[in-house]
This record gives sequence, structure tokens and C-alpha cells, in this order.
Amino acid sequence: MIKGCIFDLDGVIVDTAKYHYLAWKELAESLGFAFTKKDNERLKGVSRMRSLDILLEIGKKNFDKETKLKFAENKNKKYLEYILKMTPDEILPGVIDFMNVLKNKNIKIALGSASKNAMTILNQLNLTNYFNAVIDGTKVSNAKPDPEVFLKGAEALNLKPEECLVFEDAEAGIEAAIKGRFKCVGIGSPEILSKANHIMPGFENIDFNEIISKL
Ligand code: G6P
Ligand code: MG
Repeated sequence: MIKGCIFDLDGVIVDTAKYHYLAWKELAESLGFAFTKKDNERLKGVSRMRSLDILLEIGKKNFDKETKLKFAENKNKKYLEYILKMTPDEILPGVIDFMNVLKNKNIKIALGSASKNAMTILNQLNLTNYFNAVIDGTKVSNAKPDPEVFLKGAEALNLKPEECLVFEDAEAGIEAAIKGRFKCVGIGSPEILSKANHIMPGFENIDFNEIISKL
């Protein structure tokens, strides 16, 4: 029986990928190469430093660790400028209604995100109070597809993985959920998320009981 839901943040609750993209693109251009929206797909669900490595691989550039930390810090400063302008209207359609249904059913809610900016984003969106637990990039040492973030989420809710349902938009996140023995729902396109137990385009007009019946 499902007693808890663990939500990824970027791409599930809010579309922050567009801001990550703008900030990474600026870095790529300052280093003299182009970074496309298609390239940005490869960074979804991936940690900040791994994202930087992928970006530098695309531009065929090599830098020492210290320079890379500086690049990541500058990218994050730019990204923060965007997210500090976010408002609750950027919450993806249907998310709030869905979370209210969970609350009414006494289903616990956790966040399981790789982002170190997750608390800032939840605060910007006025969503913090919906969560019984928040596990983000500041609380885990192993990035998705390692299941650590979801296992810690379940533990914080005092639930077993089998009792929790994970919502994810990234392939690495679906893999993490499967490795942790969670049931998972992919948010987005079936081509990328085929391993999920159920796939849906978003939360608009989604009935919780119907999802459960499809797992
Ligand atoms: C999420 C996003 C990734 C991002 C990662 C780290 O998983 O999908 O694109 O790289 O979080 O985000 P941060 O805010 O810590 O740089
Ligand atoms: Mg995501």
C-alpha cells in the first residue's frame, strides 16, 4: 500500500531546466563553444559537477579541479539570479491539486532532489509547507542513479521503499527509484522514461487512485 510520495523537483514540480540551460549556455559561450537545448537534456537529473563535466566534454575542453569549481560557482550565481525571480505561478499545472489530494488521503510527501538549491526554490514557490521531509543535494553523497536520495526520503517519512511512490522526469532518477525498490511514475515522454511503472505527461487532471491501479 502506498503511504508516501517522493517528488523530484526540477522537471516534476517546476521547469527549472530552462534556467539551468541559460546559465550553462552562458558559461559555454564564455569558453567559446555552443551549448544547445538538446545538449541540456543530458544534464537533467545530473549533479552540478557532473553537469559541468558533460558540458566541458561537449566543448572538448579540459580544466583543473580548482578552475572547474570556480566555473560551477559562477554558473550557480547566474542560476540563482533566475530562480530568485521565480514565483508560485511557475509551479507546473496540476501539482498543487495533486498534493492537496495526497494531504487529504494522509499520504506523506517528501522531496528527493539532486539540487543544492532545492530549499530556495521551494521557498520561492511557497511550497515548503507541503513537505513532510526534504532530501536534497546538500544531504546526499551519491547522485542519482544511486538510490540514496530516495532511500533517505523514505526513511525520513518512516516508510519502507515499497510503501512510497517516486515521481521523476529524468532517466537517472527512474533508475535510482528502481534500484531502491520503489515504484515510480515517469513525468514526460515514454521514449526516455520507458523503465518507469507508469508514465504521464504531467499532473493535470490526474487521479491518484487511477495511478495506483496502473502500477
Ligand atoms: C537537478 C537538475 C539537474 C541539476 C541538479 C543539481 O537534478 O535536474 O539539471 O544539475 O539538480 O542542481 P543544483 O541546483 O545543485 O546545481
Ligand atoms: Mg528532474
